[in-house]
Amino acid sequence: MLAYRHQFHAGNFADVLKHALLARLLVKLAAKDKPLCYVDTHAGLGVYDLAHEWARKHAESRDGIGRLWARDDAPALLAPYLDAVRAENRGARLRFYPGSPRIAQRLLRPADRLVLSELNRADCAALAERCASDRRVTVHLMDGYQSLKAHLPPRERRGLVLVDSSFDRAREFQRLAGALAEAHRRWATGVYALWYPLMEPVALRAFERDVVATGVRRVLQAELAVHPEGWAAGMRGCGMLIVNPPFGVEAEARTMLDWLWRALADGGAGGTRVRWLAPE
Ligand SMILES: C[S@@+](CC[C@H](N)C(=O)[O-])C[C@H]1O[C@@H](n2cnc3c(N)ncnc32)[C@H](O)[C@@H]1O
Repeated sequence: MLAYRHQFHAGNFADVLKHALLARLLVKLAAKDKPLCYVDTHAGLGVYDLAHEWARKHAESRDGIGRLWARDDAPALLAPYLDAVRAENRGARLRFYPGSPRIAQRLLRPADRLVLSELNRADCAALAERCASDRRVTVHLMDGYQSLKAHLPPRERRGLVLVDSSFDRAREFQRLAGALAEAHRRWATGVYALWYPLMEPVALRAFERDVVATGVRRVLQAELAVHPEGWAAGMRGCGMLIVNPPFGVEAEARTMLDWLWRALADGGAGGTRVRWLAPE
């Protein structure tokens, strides 16, 4: 049994960053009239009940989606994400939060495919049940990194891979960089979105060096910090590496992150960063 349960964290600021970018990437990819494959290596439950006692324990969604839920001034770029959250909730009260598979189910088309892996047996079973009526979806009780070996390249030769590790094991940054290198060898033209927490600067710099050393190019880095550097009470921020981003994502990410930072930052702390970690 894995110790990490996303139910404790669902809808927090890290989910907001990850899902806002994910939704935007999927919208752009789905704008082209060709089927695509979405591979989600660490898929989670699919939908989270924010009234569940685990979600209420630290109420992390309060400083995440809870701050955006009732706002009507978000940039249009955030609409695919916010609409996905609103679609889970009838009425004015925020209760259910869509995870990455649910957001992808909503934004993808009938001819697209979703390949979901989750290693927690109970969560995987719940996810499979939730997706059972959707013929586009296959759910695998499988290690996410093994799933990359098993499922790449997809037959569509178009699509997006989300690697959203729970970072609850040592050496996860090295594992992530290694997985990117190997996945990219199998499928160099795929779009990859790799989520990571902002932790100690030394570990982050080593991660960046490892990613650059893979030789993978066109790596966009988008980071959002909502607490000051050195903040010890938890995660101060997080980031997403986007490999082969569709045209326009760099500028769009800047607009989205600036607005999110204003909405989510702890008294003006932290900031955003969007840059090419490895350009063309
Ligand atoms: C951050 S959560 C994923 C959330 C989900 N991607 C979303 O955005 O809604 C990480 C998930 O990975 C699962 N997990 C942990 N280690 C894994 C592994 N080696 N392979 C696949 N899943 C794993 C955990 O059980 C957890 O559900």
